[in-house]
Amino acid sequence: MIGQELIQKLESIHNQTDSWIIKSPGRINIIGEHTDYNYGFCLPAAIELAVFMGLSPSDKFQINAWDRKESWNIVDTIRPDWAVYFKAILNYALKENLPVKTFSLDFTASLPSGAGLSSSSSITCGFLYALNLMNSWNIPLEQLTSIAVIAEKESGVEGGMMDQISIFNGSKDHALLIDCLDWSFKKIPILLANYQWTIVDTKVKHKLIDSDYNNRSRLCKKIANKCANHFGIEENLRIVYEQYSKEEFGFLESQEKNLLSYVIEENDRVKAMTKSILSQDISSIGSLLFSGHEGLRNKYQVSCPELDFLIDFAAKSSAAIGARMMGGGFGGSSLHLIKENCTEEFTQEISQAYRSKFGFAPDVYKADISNGVELINKK
Ligand code: GLA
Repeated sequence: MIGQELIQKLESIHNQTDSWIIKSPGRINIIGEHTDYNYGFCLPAAIELAVFMGLSPSDKFQINAWDRKESWNIVDTIRPDWAVYFKAILNYALKENLPVKTFSLDFTASLPSGAGLSSSSSITCGFLYALNLMNSWNIPLEQLTSIAVIAEKESGVEGGMMDQISIFNGSKDHALLIDCLDWSFKKIPILLANYQWTIVDTKVKHKLIDSDYNNRSRLCKKIANKCANHFGIEENLRIVYEQYSKEEFGFLESQEKNLLSYVIEENDRVKAMTKSILSQDISSIGSLLFSGHEGLRNKYQVSCPELDFLIDFAAKSSAAIGARMMGGGFGGSSLHLIKENCTEEFTQEISQAYRSKFGFAPDVYKADISNGVELINKK
């Protein structure tokens, strides 16, 4: 169902005084993958696909996940998996002695879950934003971002802040150039006339995504530590690659050299991509997307056969300008830049080819760039 229909459905139920309807988007990342926890740069954007929540005053805390047909009341000890995100925010409020009025909440989404489009951060950020408004906490967005990050860490993933920053601060037709050293960001206009950002969801998740992700993040911390000892500097990968050239890392093991070299090159790609987008240099945007994927596939090694198939298909298609895997990797989605008048044809062809190879079709979505989390309606 499209967003507007979901909003109307929520409004028909949450129609009493002091009801709230919130839209919390997913995100794409144009480029700058696995750089956020390495203090580098990334270029994400919020998208129209979103989680929608309706909240009304009630005499008990009850949350209903419409798409899963599941409910959770905060006194229930058995929790559906999605309840962990709500619980983490409620725990934070409790710990900080923030007042929380009892509510009944329904949520549903046009954003697919488990597709690497940050559906879990979208829930966490949307719920936090809703409670902030409902209970007049008056916490500014910057602080809400940090709270959402801390809350999500409780679920065990050692991520950066890219997802939460884009969900809170997204801006229609703009990407956010985030400097992950201090989490500052600039809005970069990203409307490319005659081209469409397109997401292809592989619908697979390989291995334990979270543990592989954490493994990369820990290896990078180890590299930073080795470099700090070797050069006598602060333990921070950004300082390492800003001060030393590739030739000076002979003391690292081969896998460590590959990871570090990927991070250095990916940061350069973010800067080059920003320039190419600002100058609307379409062919350079395409090459940067493809070379980003090569780095993730060969050096950082977080891709998988399904993602590689989609990118290889795009490389041979005259409709596609560029493509790369997106997010943590090992499954999830790829991002493609497609000539606007070829999107239908491209969708059909890539779906058919993928189905012939893997036995099931991927899901394909338009990635229209949207605002960050928003209050849609308050009664
Ligand atoms: C996941 C994390 C992000 C980021 C990406 C990889 O989506 O949530 O913080 O690290 O992986 O770029």
